[in-house]
Amino acid sequence: MTAIETGVTAHVSIDESHHLRIGGCDAVQLAQQFGTPLIVYDEQLMRETIRAFHEVFRREGVSYQISYASKAFCTIAMCQLVYEEGCGIDVVSGGELYTAIASGVPAEAIHMHGNNKTPEELAYALEVGIGAIIVDNFYELSLLAKMAQDAGKVVDVLIRIAPGVEAHTHDFISTGRQDSKFGFDLASGQADAALRQLIDLDSLRCIGIHAHIGSQIFDVDGFRLMVERLADLYVAAKREYGLPVRILNVGGGFGIQYTDEVAPPVSDTLAAIIESARLAFDARKEALPTLWIEPGRSIAGPAGITLYRVGSQKRIPGIRNYLAIDGGMTDNPRLALYGAKYHAVLANRADEPAQTEWSVAGKCCESGDMLIWDAHLPEPASGDILAVFATGAYTYSMASHYNRIPKPAVVFVRDGRAKLVVKRETWADLATRDLPLSL
Ligand code: LLP
Repeated sequence: MTAIETGVTAHVSIDESHHLRIGGCDAVQLAQQFGTPLIVYDEQLMRETIRAFHEVFRREGVSYQISYASKAFCTIAMCQLVYEEGCGIDVVSGGELYTAIASGVPAEAIHMHGNNKTPEELAYALEVGIGAIIVDNFYELSLLAKMAQDAGKVVDVLIRIAPGVEAHTHDFISTGRQDSKFGFDLASGQADAALRQLIDLDSLRCIGIHAHIGSQIFDVDGFRLMVERLADLYVAAKREYGLPVRILNVGGGFGIQYTDEVAPPVSDTLAAIIESARLAFDARKEALPTLWIEPGRSIAGPAGITLYRVGSQKRIPGIRNYLAIDGGMTDNPRLALYGAKYHAVLANRADEPAQTEWSVAGKCCESGDMLIWDAHLPEPASGDILAVFATGAYTYSMASHYNRIPKPAVVFVRDGRAKLVVKRETWADLATRDLPLSL
């Protein structure tokens, strides 16, 4: 077997029958066995990524918590995997919280985000007793304080800050700048005001400060600036306001390679963040708090490979070649939303040289339903299996039912074994909640 240089995933190779293998499994056989589209996760790679984060924290000797941002890919098996690997889980809705709880992860290991948590979601979080709630705004602060008081509970909270740092990334997915719907604004004094309110709220215990400055970040300068700003606020929370803060949560955002980006290893980025935190707290003569990170994409993204079956083709002479696959924006809306780029191969002829450019179209009734513009591929034939790399994050979790297309199945592969972790939806599933016009 020869290793192929996709650069985006570790446990991938090509066997003597020219088939792509993922985690020791033949991708063509997986497509036959489980159908297409199929999202295949390299389980070992996800475990290795998490272990690389642990390794850095341990080497640096800091107290820490890795809280997997489940919005990237949230299913029962995934929650179990990350918990097994020593992570907590960050959820942003009642649905994600339900999934994490249903997976058997203890409530104390779960943390809840969200800029508009509903009273029902907060009640559920209080009822199960989740580890911490990251409070986003004044409305939530008073609502949660009242709900906790009524329930006779004291709830651990972190407050989310908008530190006014814009990470160098796609504009739609940058959440840390000042003009943001998320968090208490630092520059205008909202963050201080929230901390002052917390002094008198007996039902809430403020244990830390949080910020998340964006996603798919390569440049650590944004993290450094955020840490500087948060350190000032943390010190004020502790010394001026007397709050029992002990956690600095720097969010997620570790960038990954999709095509030709040069992504620094997550361990380098994390080491740089820890170093900047150490410098910032030393300079303020304050002990380094427990550091929390919330990686999502970096854990789930590179490990996911989506398999599609090639169907129709259309050549427009002198303009473009289109090949259509049996999925599209319903299982991966990221090109349509963000102009995302992906690398793909034909899994049944994985070592054939690319001959032409083929634009990969989905099957939805929408011109914008494209997966890849101008992919370099061998001459495709109907029935070929197209493997699209680095599709593990924000694909299944952002899938839709447009055109009433069922969501794909998901398998985890490892050491040549495949485990179905999400069943494929059926046409009938799509209509299960519909009611007829007349009863
Ligand atoms: N923590 C918070 C508070 C977040 O808002 C996010 C992502 C994360 C952690 C995880 O960030 P990651 O490590 O995955 O970059 N749908 C977009 C990405 C949206 C990210 C939203 N927040 C995409 O497909 O690129």
